[in-house]
Amino acid sequence: MSEAILNLEDKSYRLPVVEGTEKERAIDISALRDMTGYITLDTGYQNTGSCMSSITYIDGEKGILRYRGYPIEQLAERGSFTETCFLLMYGELPKDEERKAFSAKLTESSMIHEDMVRFFDGFPSTAHPMAILSTMVNALSVYYPYFYTDDFMSQTFDTMATRLISKIRTIAAYSYKHSIGKPFVYPKHDLRYCGNFLHMMFDSPVKPYEIHPEIEKALNVLLILHADHEQNCSTSTVRLVGSSMVNLYSSICAGICALWGPLHGGANQHVIEMLEDIKDEGVSIREYMERAKDKSNKFKLFGFGHRVYKNYDPRAKILKEHCTVLINKFGIREPLIDIALELEDAVLHDDYFVERKLYPNIDFYSGILYRAMGIPTDMYPVMFAIGRMPGWIAQWKEMHDTVPFKIGRPRQIYTGKTLRDYVDMDRR
Ligand code: CMC
Repeated sequence: MSEAILNLEDKSYRLPVVEGTEKERAIDISALRDMTGYITLDTGYQNTGSCMSSITYIDGEKGILRYRGYPIEQLAERGSFTETCFLLMYGELPKDEERKAFSAKLTESSMIHEDMVRFFDGFPSTAHPMAILSTMVNALSVYYPYFYTDDFMSQTFDTMATRLISKIRTIAAYSYKHSIGKPFVYPKHDLRYCGNFLHMMFDSPVKPYEIHPEIEKALNVLLILHADHEQNCSTSTVRLVGSSMVNLYSSICAGICALWGPLHGGANQHVIEMLEDIKDEGVSIREYMERAKDKSNKFKLFGFGHRVYKNYDPRAKILKEHCTVLINKFGIREPLIDIALELEDAVLHDDYFVERKLYPNIDFYSGILYRAMGIPTDMYPVMFAIGRMPGWIAQWKEMHDTVPFKIGRPRQIYTGKTLRDYVDMDRR
């Protein structure tokens, strides 16, 4: 099958059909308006393919997620976050020499320019860390300016990408230290990516922090699971903003802002706040569920539902297992886990949620896991952003490598007033 036939008014049009490596099919409508005068309408992009991509494959019906062909379960169990970064950006798992060189570059880039560190003084201690993160990432374009040139990908891309992946964890840890009024802890060259982040977050001159291998492993898993998810809201934002040829830092800053919302990466913070309400404020599980079903408000049950997964979210399954391991290992007494299990069970047996195929998503269990690591609630979306960084960068690179290159520019169906004459003030 290589064509679709469209019958419109009294004419017939032939539209090309494209097929991906996993047999996903699409009708290419890019010439539709020129051919017919019609555009397609798809609010919320529920059925619109915005690009061809070889980075991440999802089958939402079967609960499959793969990066560059590798199942997420294998990467989470056997891989590390930094090798996942390399895989997403360059297409293959690194060989030993490549991994060492990549890690060395990340270590070299981990400090923040001392002038930039002073920016933190200007932020109130109450500032949300996502607001600080997006500001600081955009500020990288002040300290490391560049212009897009033809040899950008071969000359500058690697440096910018490693700078972003490395510095985001330093900025994140500093924003936490700033919020609690404690001195910044510099990164250490002999620690690995996740260990270094935990060190910068929790070490202090009066109370040295011991990095537990189980916590370091759980953090690696969390970041790997967040690393890419094809054309979601924040990734599409990075592509759309980047398509104007603005610099990589500003494109990523836009992605961070898109991620912050409670329907996307901000959901993990809201899940924990919801579970705490159930525990402390006496709001019952049933009350939350009924509110979420009530169409007269916009409230949703955080941590449930997904645009793509209609069976289960494979990331949530992996996280649930890690949650149990960590909580048992450290003997953590966590009442929220019992509430979460009770809520999950109630949802999975409720007709409203069953009919709509609403299952726990990654954000349902990630908050509990972060909490078990000692990471404060408002840092959860920041953790998501650290994990998603390589995916954003890989998608940005892939878009810029694609020929022909097109600026992103959707169309609309206008529903406003038709032509009318200007009315002078005294006649309005
Ligand atoms: N609680 C109650 N109802 C829901 C929920 C929910 N969490 N999610 C979807 N629905 C309803 C929705 O109202 C609609 O009902 P109806 O058919 O009666 O109008 C139906 O289920 C179908 O949902 P949809 O409109 O197709 O969902 P969507 O694809 O537009 O939105 C979503 C996906 C993730 C934004 C949504 O499920 C949601 O808001 N979930 C809660 C927020 C959340 O947990 N977000 C994190 C997503 S995972 C991390 C990430 O990748 O971003």
